[in-house]
Amino acid sequence: MALLKILLYPDERLHIVADPVSKVNEETRLLVRDMAETMYSARGIGLAATQVDVHQRVIVIDVSDTHDTLYVFINPEIVARSGESDYEEGCLSVPGVFGKVSRAHQITVNALDADGQPFTLDADGVLAVCIQHEMDHLLGKVFVEYWSQMKQSRLRTKLKKQRRKVM
Ligand code: NI
Repeated sequence: MALLKILLYPDERLHIVADPVSKVNEETRLLVRDMAETMYSARGIGLAATQVDVHQRVIVIDVSDTHDTLYVFINPEIVARSGESDYEEGCLSVPGVFGKVSRAHQITVNALDADGQPFTLDADGVLAVCIQHEMDHLLGKVFVEYWSQMKQSRLRTKLKKQRRKVM
């Protein structure tokens, strides 16, 4: 297994739209294992392949306190959504930045697991929010891009200054 490098906003590669996985094979499973290791190591609750510069529709999520409930979604599609919630979100690609995004409270998602088997999951609360956040990554969208242009531009300026300091 290997730790993968996580792209940091505003890296342009975070805007690439991911392709569906045509066949779940050993390469896919290796990607899933590496993504899970990378997510746990970075203390995240979700990671999309886009964030590690692999542009395939693959997501790993674990919202449990015990870090032992891994969800793998390959080619996820949301088939139903209801309610509304606005959790304070964070993102491994935008470290230290948090903000609310309005999303569906409950969703039903169809996907393939790491063995290529189709499954359907009903999710609500933080799991539902996390799935929607990660699926946005697959479409090239980072959560801060729901914010106003002015707030985004202020964030980019702040990040540029911070990163100059640590170099
Ligand atoms: Ni994210």
